[in-house]
Amino acid sequence: MPEATSATPVHLQLRAAGTGVVLRLSGDELPQILHWGADLGAASDEQLREFAANAEPALDNSVDVPVRISVVPEHAAGWMGAPGLRGHRSGQAWTPQVGHLNHTVQGNTVTSRGVDRNSELELEVEIQLLDSGLLRLRASVTNLGSSDYNLEQLVVALPVSGSAVETMDQAGRWSKERTPQRRPLTVGTHLRENRRGRTGADAATVLLAGEEGFGFGHGEVWGLHVGFSGNHLTYVEHTSAGKTLLGGGELLLPGEIVLKTGSSYSTPWVYACHGVGLDAAARQFHNHLRSRPQHPTTLRPVTLNTWEAVYFDHDLTRILALADKAAELGVERFVLDDGWFRGRRDDTAGLGDWYVDEDVWPQGLQPLTDHLATLGIEFGLWFEPEMINPESDLAREHPDWILQPVGRMPLPARHQQVLNLAIPEAYDYIRDRISELVGRCNIGYIKWDHNRDLVDAGSTATGSAGVHEQTLATYRLLAELKDRHPGLEIESCSSGGARVDLGILEHTDRVWASDCIDPLERQQILRWTAQLLPPELVGSHVGSSHSHTTGRTHDLSFRAATALFGHYGIEWDITLLTAAEQQELAHWIGVYKEHRTLLHQGDVVRVDHPTPEISAHGVIASDRSAALFEFTVLSRPSCWPPVPVRLRGLDPERSYSIRQLGPTPPLGTNNNSPAWMNDGGIRLSGAMLAAAGLAMPPLQPEHSVVVHLEAADHVQAPLADS
Ligand code: DGJ
Repeated sequence: MPEATSATPVHLQLRAAGTGVVLRLSGDELPQILHWGADLGAASDEQLREFAANAEPALDNSVDVPVRISVVPEHAAGWMGAPGLRGHRSGQAWTPQVGHLNHTVQGNTVTSRGVDRNSELELEVEIQLLDSGLLRLRASVTNLGSSDYNLEQLVVALPVSGSAVETMDQAGRWSKERTPQRRPLTVGTHLRENRRGRTGADAATVLLAGEEGFGFGHGEVWGLHVGFSGNHLTYVEHTSAGKTLLGGGELLLPGEIVLKTGSSYSTPWVYACHGVGLDAAARQFHNHLRSRPQHPTTLRPVTLNTWEAVYFDHDLTRILALADKAAELGVERFVLDDGWFRGRRDDTAGLGDWYVDEDVWPQGLQPLTDHLATLGIEFGLWFEPEMINPESDLAREHPDWILQPVGRMPLPARHQQVLNLAIPEAYDYIRDRISELVGRCNIGYIKWDHNRDLVDAGSTATGSAGVHEQTLATYRLLAELKDRHPGLEIESCSSGGARVDLGILEHTDRVWASDCIDPLERQQILRWTAQLLPPELVGSHVGSSHSHTTGRTHDLSFRAATALFGHYGIEWDITLLTAAEQQELAHWIGVYKEHRTLLHQGDVVRVDHPTPEISAHGVIASDRSAALFEFTVLSRPSCWPPVPVRLRGLDPERSYSIRQLGPTPPLGTNNNSPAWMNDGGIRLSGAMLAAAGLAMPPLQPEHSVVVHLEAADHVQAPLADS
């Protein structure tokens, strides 16, 4: 790359998986993104220069030079929107302007470093277009001055095409995570701030801006996700000059980052997705996650979790009976949830005392772990390492290890407080307790919970806010445990699905999507969790017929089919099953085992059905040889019978044999099952399925059916799963 100087900026093109980025790199300005969207095709330097000239911002009642908006937007450049870097030195150095830039390019990664000599700051920005087409950015600032620099905020921002006129992000609450919300893009800022100290059940997750009416399969969209599990912010800003920026980063609490001479702060990675349709944008996340070296590649084991089966009622005989029944049904991993450690008879006490409770488990966990070993089932154990009950030996011995502001104890939540992992002795204690148990009890899997927000989370060591340090300490702890115990898998759980982000997923192997296992709610939760995560990373369990969180009752076929499109498990007292339920559940476990490679490697497709009460989604093998779909009637539509479901993404040229998997669910009165549900199924081409669709069975509400499609020319490989 020729050297970028003030007089002659360089225009650089990055291209991957159908996404293109054009950057303007100059000697005296931070990098600017001139284009982020569809791949523009290979362009010569001359073409890029002309492209840049065409994109040159016009002047209108503004400063006398074009306002160039960099990836860390600067007020000094004439940008009247939110600046990327905010901070000061006791009121000085408040308006940074970074110059003297040096840019290095390695493959699709651009690193730009520059200084502001007046503010005595160095800023570095990294822009990386990943092979998946996902773009990621981060920035860091270093204090070159001799006085403290008070950092208030450092975020990165990306321009979105002017054709984006609507936004969508997610909200939610406990047991109803990742609820989409949509609104027109108007002048101003839609800002999502999170001060929970964890990702949050109401996290924005992916904040998208797109063309009018964008859906799963249509309309160009641009989205942003902050890969961080502590406080964070995500925003879309639209100006009266027609500019739209997506931005985000960590949300810093007052005084949380004070940079001493020579010290630095780095933002988390901020990820930006693009595509035509929400599925294409989601696929960039999925493909990126799947390409990571630590991505789980072994078959995702059928899991039994004890929580909704026994809650705190830990009794060896009862739990062994559960394990025996699990083995009969084909379960491969058994997770002992909350309630096994000292003093933990309910949720009011015990957190922090990570020793097996001698009263409830007089012989320790060994009778259980030995039994599971003879059954060939892996053992997993629940922890909530960042938490402490005031009613615990740990809190009594080390009250100063609790995160708290000077002079008061934070309000309790679920009777618990937060353990300050930034205190080395507290960190070492937790690491060593977990590590000792993992080694001694042959634990292959940890369910890592986090059940309260970080309210008033100050550090007794410094007197200042402690969320930033706590989040980084948690990441370190997870990494250290994984280093010590190769092969250990960890699930990120947080009151259900309140810690789902790409920061925690650097160190964990799946998320617990929600405490709500009601399949009707799960349809929504899984559908929108998929905007970020592929199914193999999302825990998905079959619960009892009567949902513990909503009180609704559902057939096993609906519960089992809904759970199929994730990492499958059971959370139900299976010792109480009737023979028929046992047979049906074993059948569904068999379906999962037979198809999990497809489910966990295929491309996720969510259907834009014209009837909102109908949900259809599935996965298609990347070679288009097979697919698995679920069609659901969520509630009773006013028009009936439903129109066919158009299946996008199959090979138009190939013929697919289509059959139903699992028992036939009840159909509405006087309605017959469509031809494909009858014995032998039918064959249709991919083109027919995309253009005309597959007949939607007239299911009763809160029921679903699973459809298997296989290309007629597909030669079945020997099943790796069986
Ligand atoms: C909250 C989790 O989401 C549940 O699955 C369960 O592990 C409980 N905590 C245990 O306290």
